[in-house]
Amino acid sequence: MAETIIVLGGGIIGLSCAFELQRRGHQVKVLETRQCGGQASGAAAGMLAPYSENVEGPDEFFRLCHESLRLYPAWQQTVREISGCDFEYTASGSLYVARHAADLLVLEGRLLWQREYGSSGSLVEGAELQKLEPMLSGQMLAGLYTPEESHVYAPDFVKALEQGCRRLGVDIHEELEQLELMEFEQEVLVKAADGRTFRSDRLLVCSGAWAQELAEVLDIRIPIYPIRGQICAYRMEAQQPVRHMVFGPQGYLVAKANSTVVCGASEDVAGYDTSVTERGIERLKKWNKQMFPHLEHLEPFHRWAGLRPATQDGLPLIGKLASARRIVMAAGHYRNGILLSPATAMLAADMIEGKEYPAFNEAFNPERFGKAASYYSF
Ligand code: FAD
Ligand code: GLY
Repeated sequence: MAETIIVLGGGIIGLSCAFELQRRGHQVKVLETRQCGGQASGAAAGMLAPYSENVEGPDEFFRLCHESLRLYPAWQQTVREISGCDFEYTASGSLYVARHAADLLVLEGRLLWQREYGSSGSLVEGAELQKLEPMLSGQMLAGLYTPEESHVYAPDFVKALEQGCRRLGVDIHEELEQLELMEFEQEVLVKAADGRTFRSDRLLVCSGAWAQELAEVLDIRIPIYPIRGQICAYRMEAQQPVRHMVFGPQGYLVAKANSTVVCGASEDVAGYDTSVTERGIERLKKWNKQMFPHLEHLEPFHRWAGLRPATQDGLPLIGKLASARRIVMAAGHYRNGILLSPATAMLAADMIEGKEYPAFNEAFNPERFGKAASYYSF
């Protein structure tokens, strides 16, 4: 049965959910306090890299990331066709580099379990490494090459999703400043700062690092915190020095089709401050030139920062609230929200429609942290 749904938040998660739900015949409104794509999603490096970004083992988070990577080729194609917008989607593959023999042992261990989960990765050294990344520093001993990983140009991809939503008939309201959830039992009623009210059957909470603002009214703990990522980009006048996504323990570099190299990113606790610091960028520059000496004499032409929605246990909050049957949450995607957007959209839409989705795991249950009150009783 078609439902009316309010999506709170116009980042990649809110827009992807809205896109999928409207495509399935529901009537969706996106309510955004500022601008669609204006926060973490527009700041992201756009890497679709479940193997390189999940180094511990094949836990439930990795499995969701892996499922989302599987969905990406068809998903981005649908967004492209419906929106009519172009954006970069590059199957570059990735290289996780090791400088010391001890790091190489870690990569070998990682390769063993990643091969069981669809990676056709291999360890490359010496001439083979130099052939893959000719301008990589000769100090690097080896790399874990993963051909399956890819990337999008996140700001353009989010714009395409927004345009796709509009073309499908999603009603998008931006610059609403402040929103209040007035009612969620008989119906959903949200009031904006300018006095306008919005009603629906369901509410989907996709407000990223701001989602914990609803903890009190929903009476559940929502331990989502902003972790600032400072990031920068170099403009390449002649030759593009980076061929793959190149990762190391201290950062990553990604060559974009617009002749830039994006280099990220810090992980700072700075509240909701999105400013860029000299120290943060200097650290990135130091690491970048260790990886690619070619960058030594270049200055980043663009520096920016975004707030990743981090959670207490590292897992996103995705699911229906047992305590408030009209509400579904999809927030807390930390470092992987661009990658996780299609799987999250499918999950959220299936949940609203009462379907089972195989990638769902109880570990993402949004009520796993207990009642809001229990937080204050310690
Ligand atoms: P956001 O994009 O922050 O969107 C939330 C939206 O909700 C915002 O627009 C905000 O204004 C709005 N909002 C806030 N409060 C309310 C409210 N009360 N009502 C309505 N709207 C509200 N991920 C990857 O997969 N690959 C990467 O390479 C990658 N690189 C990254 C690099 C950096 C530097 C950073 C900072 C992040 C990176 N990420 C990456 C992580 C990714 O950006 C996030 O996980 C993702 O953007 C989260 O999406 P979101 O929609 O939940 O949050
Ligand atoms: N996923 C890359 C970042 O969060 O910086």
